[in-house]
Amino acid sequence: MFELRKVSVSYGSHRAVGDVSMDVFQRNITALIGPSGCGKSTLLRCLNRMNDLVPSARVDGEVIYHGENLYGPRVDPVQVRKVIGMVFQKPNPFPKSIYDNVAFGPRTMGIKQNMDDIVEEALRGAALWDEVKDKLTSNGLSLSGGQQQRLCIARAIAVKPEVVLMDEPCSALDPIATLKIEDLIRQLKDEYTIVIVTHNMQQAARVSDMTAFFSVRTSEGKRTGELVEYDDTEKIFSTPADRRTEDYISGRFG
Ligand SMILES: Nc1ncnc2c1ncn2[C@@H]1O[C@H](COP(=O)(O)OP(=O)(O)O)[C@@H](O)[C@H]1O
Ligand SMILES: [Mg+2]
Repeated sequence: MFELRKVSVSYGSHRAVGDVSMDVFQRNITALIGPSGCGKSTLLRCLNRMNDLVPSARVDGEVIYHGENLYGPRVDPVQVRKVIGMVFQKPNPFPKSIYDNVAFGPRTMGIKQNMDDIVEEALRGAALWDEVKDKLTSNGLSLSGGQQQRLCIARAIAVKPEVVLMDEPCSALDPIATLKIEDLIRQLKDEYTIVIVTHNMQQAARVSDMTAFFSVRTSEGKRTGELVEYDDTEKIFSTPADRRTEDYISGRFG
């Protein structure tokens, strides 16, 4: 789905993550793991041009999506973000009704017909329908944290993206809400390509097919994230090739 070729991201003169080359496979769940500050969120934001919104950020290298460089001159970043949706760390529903949260994306795309069906399908897809079908006019912010995050997932999938990027989507949730989201992520794989950042290694092991482990290299006082190892999740968590991966997953570091 994505081919990253020597992707580096700098904020001003600080190179946050350097020289990442990896392929992200379609209808797969790819986890990005590693210690805080190694550039996981930065790299994730490269995949739908969210870094464009950070004035100091510069992306070098190529992010190839369907054979085309996402950073090519003919690519419209707004269009990119429609096809490649995002779910954030802290659930961020709009202060609007549950219905309007989900209908927001389709409406901005100019869709007017069958909105009830679109909303229902997205809420079902996010495993939230049964809990909210009788209160679609309630404010999205009245839901529990886990429900709010599933509402945000419903909002993301309502526009039928190809890819959903998730940046630590469970870090603000309790364990039960977390397991519900993990179940949901596994279900979404049938239709979507998912890239998830998580600092929870058990979560990466439970949900993902492929895992990329990042680390931080310090040279001359500058910290730059780098991709250490990328492989099948099973391999990364059983017989990693790199000592740094082994130290991290066994909890000796990070
Ligand atoms: N908007 C920003 N402006 C400047 N520096 C940033 C910004 N976002 C992240 N960074 C820096 O980039 C590095 C990687 O951060 P981040 O991608 O958030 O790491 P992670 O998600 O792995 O914790 C850190 O050194 C962080 O301080
Ligand atoms: Mg982060």
